[in-house]
Amino acid sequence: MNQRQLQQQEFEQSEQNLIVGIELQCPLSPEQLAMTTADSEYVIETFESGLTAQVFHIRIDGRDYTLKKKRPQAKVQNLDGQYSFLNEVQRRFDFQTQKNNPNSATAFQHIVETIYADYRLGIIVSEWIEGTPIEDLTDDLLTQLFSTLLACECMGLFEWDLCAGNLLVDGEGQLKLFDFGYMYRFDPLTEFNSNGLNDPLFDTCERFETRFLSGWLLEAGYSQRESLQIFKTVKQRALKMLERKREWLTANQAKSEVISRVQASIEKVQAALGSDAKLEHLFTLEMFRSHVLDIEDDLEGKSCTSTTIKRVQFVLAMLERHYDLLREGGALFYQNQGKSQTELVDSYQEKCQLVERYQL
Ligand SMILES: Nc1ncnc2c1ncn2[C@@H]1O[C@H](COP(=O)(O)OP(=O)(O)OP(=O)(O)O)[C@@H](O)[C@H]1O
Ligand SMILES: [Mg+2]
Repeated sequence: MNQRQLQQQEFEQSEQNLIVGIELQCPLSPEQLAMTTADSEYVIETFESGLTAQVFHIRIDGRDYTLKKKRPQAKVQNLDGQYSFLNEVQRRFDFQTQKNNPNSATAFQHIVETIYADYRLGIIVSEWIEGTPIEDLTDDLLTQLFSTLLACECMGLFEWDLCAGNLLVDGEGQLKLFDFGYMYRFDPLTEFNSNGLNDPLFDTCERFETRFLSGWLLEAGYSQRESLQIFKTVKQRALKMLERKREWLTANQAKSEVISRVQASIEKVQAALGSDAKLEHLFTLEMFRSHVLDIEDDLEGKSCTSTTIKRVQFVLAMLERHYDLLREGGALFYQNQGKSQTELVDSYQEKCQLVERYQL
């Protein structure tokens, strides 16, 4: 168990509670909300997809809210899944503190408003976002996303799960983040992410490409040319965020290792934006990396989908075609490091069978 898991376990086993907001703002009594079922008269819509919670769209006195209700027993086996509801209430608390402060409120305007949360009752009440999933990755949307994530990093929060189901765009084109089950604390001045200095591979842009972009491009069926254009927009916006991050790190005397890592990312992106060929080269490397990482995530959680199958097929095709490029570009890491082309193809063919077995 890591430090955070130990602390969350200790909290869970104690009598302590964590409450966010004031009860007066709650549209019904918290106890009543905690007993909500899909049949409650004020429920408009129920989302059953969540492994640790049920989500209800509710309407009370003509106003819409979202009620996230903890499942008595999480459907996920691993610890992070078990503690994800607690983790989310902890993050809601952190964010409301920032949102209630006029000096930091605008930096967190794309974070959902928490109206009330009570961990022991197992409820989180939020504003209802009348929104749709991301359809177009516009400059504007990416700017909103990356500036919000940078604000999160600067306050010491790292988001791991930037998947399509966790990003909504409202009627005014405003992005909203609302699921913080896997957003963890870290020290941005001395650590790369919430794994400390152990895994420099994971950063905010990588998380977006791994959890969202790589799968989204596969599913949307864009041509290589269109995909590259989208990738270019993402990298341009990411570059702006990285430059701001470097500035902030320097101004706050961050550890040199941490600044160097951001500097290296900036140089990598700048080089790629220098020509179409270089951009395509980086695209190949980063999409491969993202598919590889996401496949492992799905396999570990035994939560594979049809997208996971496509990801494995994509990885296999890339190994057949670009093995040397991937090896020289540093895309063979962790369990793939040092393996020959044949070993890797064998390994991903095996994974393909596992992925088929673990379909949700
Ligand atoms: N505030 C909100 N406004 C509108 N819709 C919401 C809101 N919160 C959640 N939803 C909807 O409910 C779905 C599930 O919510 P959320 O991601 O918070 O739950 P979850 O249990 O973490 O689910 P999963 O495990 O599938 O990620 C979202 O994908 C979204 O469609
Ligand atoms: Mg979610």
